[in-house]
Amino acid sequence: MKKIVIGITGSIAIYKTCDLISLLKKKNYDIEVIMTEHATKFINPLTFGSLIHKPILVDDFDDTGYQIKHINIVKDASCFIIVPASANIIAKIAHGLGDDALTSAFLAATCPKIIAPAMNVHMYENTATQKNIEICKSYDIHFVEPIDGPMACGYSGKGHIANLDDIVECIDYMTSSHPLKGKHILISAGPTLESIDPVRFISNHSSGKMGYALAKAARNLGGHVTLISGPVSLKIPYGVDFISIESAQDMYEAVKEFMDFQDYIIMAAAVGDYCPATYSETKIKKSDSHMFLDLQKNPDILSYIGQHKTKQTVCGFAMETDHVLENAQNKFSNKNCDLLVVNDLFEEGAGFKGDTNKVALITKHFVEYLDLMSKDDLSYRIIEKLMKIKGE
Ligand code: PMT
Repeated sequence: MKKIVIGITGSIAIYKTCDLISLLKKKNYDIEVIMTEHATKFINPLTFGSLIHKPILVDDFDDTGYQIKHINIVKDASCFIIVPASANIIAKIAHGLGDDALTSAFLAATCPKIIAPAMNVHMYENTATQKNIEICKSYDIHFVEPIDGPMACGYSGKGHIANLDDIVECIDYMTSSHPLKGKHILISAGPTLESIDPVRFISNHSSGKMGYALAKAARNLGGHVTLISGPVSLKIPYGVDFISIESAQDMYEAVKEFMDFQDYIIMAAAVGDYCPATYSETKIKKSDSHMFLDLQKNPDILSYIGQHKTKQTVCGFAMETDHVLENAQNKFSNKNCDLLVVNDLFEEGAGFKGDTNKVALITKHFVEYLDLMSKDDLSYRIIEKLMKIKGE
């Protein structure tokens, strides 16, 4: 279990920290909480104590003051995050103050540190606050930037606490080891959408979950991730370069633009093999009985990558319904992949939409059948395999 220390300061966004703790508990993090005196004016420490089933540190000098609490609490921590962080705490950290339990513990911590500010837009934009943020960044403290939005003070602007999912993803990243540091990974995800007319299109059932899970895993492992995605309803993963595309042709252009400097390329997208030969600018009228669509072949992006790769280690996917291994092995060699991940649509828990997948990994020498697992866990297995193939 990884230990996370959460520092909480006086900001109206404090109520969001309750939800954040619930999200982190679901991910099995061991949580400690330190509050400033001002924070306790907004929410009683009992609330956080009830959520984490532990005492909350506020006062270093209470009647158990013989323990060095601000030192003990950060021992073996994987990450220290201050959320919400007020302008005041940022100023104190920038200048090395240790005048309460939170600032003293932050000074004593040697683990990765994150600050998620939340305050009035003018306080955030104030030159002093911005200078203090720059100073903190120069100490290698990572910021999860606030977002634009309405605030309790009646103003609207940048200062609203970041999306909680982004904060969790930032913690996931900061608490991971980074064997892919300095490496570039291109990942495709989701379906493509081939328009027939302004109203209709051809597409498929890909939700993007597999590709997005791969993007998060590659990011957590320290890689510089470029995610090229067809239309899906998933949140863009935190800390990745995101390219939104619609058609297979769009994806082909984007892949060609970005492929040269990649170390790894993973094609998890369900790319449409065909698109309408002509696009009608106006809605095609209903005919009395049949309608015929003239389709033309889309570029095979994975084959293009396979033909033009230089240093890139390439992973393709195959979605099969019959003669699964035979078809997948043909794709592996025809498309010149280093690894092919095959999923069988008719296997329980595999393929489109769900949170799990059941696949076999095909390499030049082996076929490895994996058990049913979450797309998150599978992503790490695939990336580990690719790193092994590359010899990293
Ligand atoms: O998004 P989810 O709902 O989580 O579902 C995940 C998934 C089922 C989409 C994923 O696990 C998967 O199997 N992706 C590949 C689906 C697919 O298009 O398979 P294919 O056998 O048709 O294509 C083989 C490979 O060639 C794939 O890597 C595909 O990206 C690539 N391809 C295909 C056609 C084309 N014109 N260009 C390509 O690059």
